[in-house]
Amino acid sequence: MIDGVGHHRVRGVWGFKQWQADVWARFFKMMSMETPAIAWLDGNILALADAKCRVEDRGFLFGDGVYEVVRAYDRQLFAADAHWLRLRHSAQGIDLELPMSLEEIAGIAENLLMRSGLRDAEIYVQVTRGAARRNHLFPTNTPPTLLIWVQAPRLPSVDLKATGASVVTLPDERWARCHLKTISLLANCLAKEEARRRGCDEAILVRDGWVTEGTSCNVLLIRGDLIVTPPTDQRILPGVTRACVLDQAPNLGMAVVQRPIAVGELFDADEIILTSTIMELMPVRVIDGSLVGAGRPGPAYRTLATAYSELTHRRLPSPS
Ligand code: PDD
Repeated sequence: MIDGVGHHRVRGVWGFKQWQADVWARFFKMMSMETPAIAWLDGNILALADAKCRVEDRGFLFGDGVYEVVRAYDRQLFAADAHWLRLRHSAQGIDLELPMSLEEIAGIAENLLMRSGLRDAEIYVQVTRGAARRNHLFPTNTPPTLLIWVQAPRLPSVDLKATGASVVTLPDERWARCHLKTISLLANCLAKEEARRRGCDEAILVRDGWVTEGTSCNVLLIRGDLIVTPPTDQRILPGVTRACVLDQAPNLGMAVVQRPIAVGELFDADEIILTSTIMELMPVRVIDGSLVGAGRPGPAYRTLATAYSELTHRRLPSPS
């Protein structure tokens, strides 16, 4: 257990039983339909499609908020404590007080997951500085807006994992506090879209000649038995998936070095691996048109991805 978050579960509140949720989930599956996403918005539970907030919400007007994305496997949130702690850290980093404790947020997320009937799910949590008359200054006495939703996960493409992704390097045009997971993601979206326009799956961002991260993932470079990855400073998000992989590496016979990576090093890496909660581990096949290593997923990817899958499915002990 990570300090600061108790393992506490809220079961059966709001009078909803697991079997009822399961019946709905089976029904949607039988109809080959995606189970509809459900949301918790400021105390109300409703279909995500019906969740509405005020247009004066500062998340909408200023991108003034923080968020987390958590995966559930086999009905359990994965590495949830690390995500909740990062949510608190991001909120503190923008001077935003969370409207409730991490235990309460965790309880709502778990309850929504149970109600959704989904075995595997994606949980989105967002806190904004609330709705107030538009003014750059922070409002006073305005409650934050808390939104949590649970939906079927965007599963990373099995084909892409088998062949490897193609990536392009692009300038990192984001702000100077990328260690905070804020909802102001325009620069990330522009880079991702630019990558798509160039026929690529993802962009690796470069600031002053140094690799930072992907538009929504971290970057690991493999040289033999060594994993090299940029250190967790203000230039990158400290990814939970990255941390899980680095934690496991020594048990898998791999050493880890956290140091700045010059962009040129990408072109003579044996392997490049991207990590995120949603893509999990993704091997890179091509970078800026050049093959990475042998141009197919390598042995380090296979070892690390297998271990990560065992971890998410609880066949290995959880990260400390
Ligand atoms: N993004 N770097 C950035 C900029 C990210 O947005 C993310 C995750 C990561 C990987 O972090 P983690 O392993 O904790 O998911 C790194 C989420 C998935 C998103 O925005 O959807």
